[in-house]
Amino acid sequence: MTGYLVTFEGGEGGGKSTQIARLAAYLRNLGHDVLITREPGGSPGAEAVRHIILSGLAEELGPDWEAVLFAAARADHVGQLIRPALDRGDIVLCDRFHDSTRVYQFAGQGRDLSLLERLERATLAGTYPDLTIVIDVPAEIGGERARKRRGNAGADRFEKDDQSIQEARRQAFLKIAENEPERCVVVDGNRPVETVAADIRAIVEDRLEAKRFEAIDRSLKLGQKR
Ligand code: TYD
Repeated sequence: MTGYLVTFEGGEGGGKSTQIARLAAYLRNLGHDVLITREPGGSPGAEAVRHIILSGLAEELGPDWEAVLFAAARADHVGQLIRPALDRGDIVLCDRFHDSTRVYQFAGQGRDLSLLERLERATLAGTYPDLTIVIDVPAEIGGERARKRRGNAGADRFEKDDQSIQEARRQAFLKIAENEPERCVVVDGNRPVETVAADIRAIVEDRLEAKRFEAIDRSLKLGQKR
């Protein structure tokens, strides 16, 4: 029995966590076991690293070392939480994953993409998302939503970057989706919550159905061989 890993990506204020909660409720209602998790964090070790990164303590080390910290957190999260859940057959909904490292740590000019590749291979250890939903909103709108959500709390390490950087991140997520159309689906997040949720439900249901047919097909072929 293998589970199903769905990652949610996109810039700030796209509504990922709201949409994850809605999708989880819907899938649980259908009888699926669903695990909700997030990055950086998700496991005790990774949550400790989350604090170091988001407080900005590691910023002066530069993007390579920040990437290494994200990788350490991800390796723990995958090994301790995600892989065991997938092995149990759960649907795992993860708020950000390896695409966020590609975008936030490596999308800039002159970055060492061989480091990214090595980190990705080591941290994921074969656990790639089955489906990635990129919730797309213009940086201006996402930034405004994130500001409202924060209220009086200060912006974290990445929220404080200006709108042109946030817009470049948005474009980098769209580029990943364009390069990997089998895995990624872009959903317009600049619409009412329920409209976005309905789109996401339809996408996930389609994919789960396709997976079910693939499994039936495989077992029929195995049966024929016997
Ligand atoms: P979080 O408060 O979870 O933000 P959001 O609601 O936008 O998901 O903070 C996570 C921040 O960490 C976010 O700004 C993106 C950044 N990040 C990276 O830079 N690299 C990564 O690999 C991950 C997972 C997140």
